[in-house]
Amino acid sequence: LENGLALTPPMGWVSWERYRCNVDCDIEPDNCISENLYMKMADLLVSEGYKDKGYEYVNIDDCWMEKQRDANGTLVADRERFPHGIKWLADYVHNLGLKLGIYEDFGTFTCGGYPGSKFYLQKDAETFAAWGVDMLKLDGCYSDISDMDYGYPAMSFFMNQTGRPMLYSCSWPAYVVFSGQIPDYKKIASYCNIWRNYADIQDSWDSVKGIIEFYGNDTGNFSLVAGPGNFNDPDMIIVGDYGLSYDQQRTQMAMWAIMASPLLMSIDLRNVKPETKALLQNDNVIRVNQDAHGIQGHRIQGPFEVWMKPMSVDAKGGAFAFLNLNDGGGPMQVSMNLQDLGLTQAEGYNVTEGFTGQFIGVLKPHDLINASVDPSGVWFGIAYFDC
Ligand code: DGJ
Repeated sequence: LENGLALTPPMGWVSWERYRCNVDCDIEPDNCISENLYMKMADLLVSEGYKDKGYEYVNIDDCWMEKQRDANGTLVADRERFPHGIKWLADYVHNLGLKLGIYEDFGTFTCGGYPGSKFYLQKDAETFAAWGVDMLKLDGCYSDISDMDYGYPAMSFFMNQTGRPMLYSCSWPAYVVFSGQIPDYKKIASYCNIWRNYADIQDSWDSVKGIIEFYGNDTGNFSLVAGPGNFNDPDMIIVGDYGLSYDQQRTQMAMWAIMASPLLMSIDLRNVKPETKALLQNDNVIRVNQDAHGIQGHRIQGPFEVWMKPMSVDAKGGAFAFLNLNDGGGPMQVSMNLQDLGLTQAEGYNVTEGFTGQFIGVLKPHDLINASVDPSGVWFGIAYFDC
């Protein structure tokens, strides 16, 4: 969508995977979906250095509303959990130099059973704009997928009509994929900034692996529509939650960088181990993810997986990953040359290991890169061409 937003993949924090629909603030005052939670996470994005690295969105997900609209049909935030309302929260977030995202659903209800936008698209777009919202995720529960072809574009139109720039995140293709069809990604990209196209991420390596495989298969060639203003969204970053080993955390970061994916962390920022925080804030990972060309990397080879993200249109450099998807055994020894990654400049490339920035050498297209890759781990490299 050409609205000047998401020129690179959006970065920020979102509540869903970690906090779900926890609405019990009596039992869990610090972990329930409430203005306190979003304020706290906004504070920590700033004080823990995430904002300086580019993480800017604070995204409300499901379960923020009252069960009923008000007498005028306007959405209302839960009066106990958001006593000051969303406009006040947006002001709070904006004062920290951050942006506020919100969640709604295209159908009659959200997935959590709160009022959906069906019959209220225009009104809800106007409400969000009036509140100072900067991003909308529009889910697709309780709806008919045959309505989505005009309904998601209609919301895009109404959001644009408000005059407030709001990044538009569509779950549209995910529901099309679940129904067994192949989405029209070009059409989706013309109405949405980012879009989910696969199952929800869960806090497990199996889930991350399944998403990587879906993106590797690239059915419908969705990788080709990625670029400034348009990004596929393989779902939230769970690095810092409970389910991933350190190797698997590195894999999610490297792969989400290579796939030019939104980096929306769904973790408890009060409680992040130093080595995990270093991964989330790794400059090279972020640089690859935020490369201005916005090219989505793709899988180029088995039996071990190789992924490549060109970092300029003429392939004068790129980031790559050797991925070991074996579930057992020890490190896999991998040798590959740059030529096979599509890096063909005869003068050679400055190759560095991505996480550490350690210089490997100036490698010509036929020189081998030798790497040892742990099970469910990754070797993440960057090849620069300086002319
Ligand atoms: C389904 C979405 O895919 C999730 O990311 C989350 O927003 C839930 N719905 C909320 O109910």
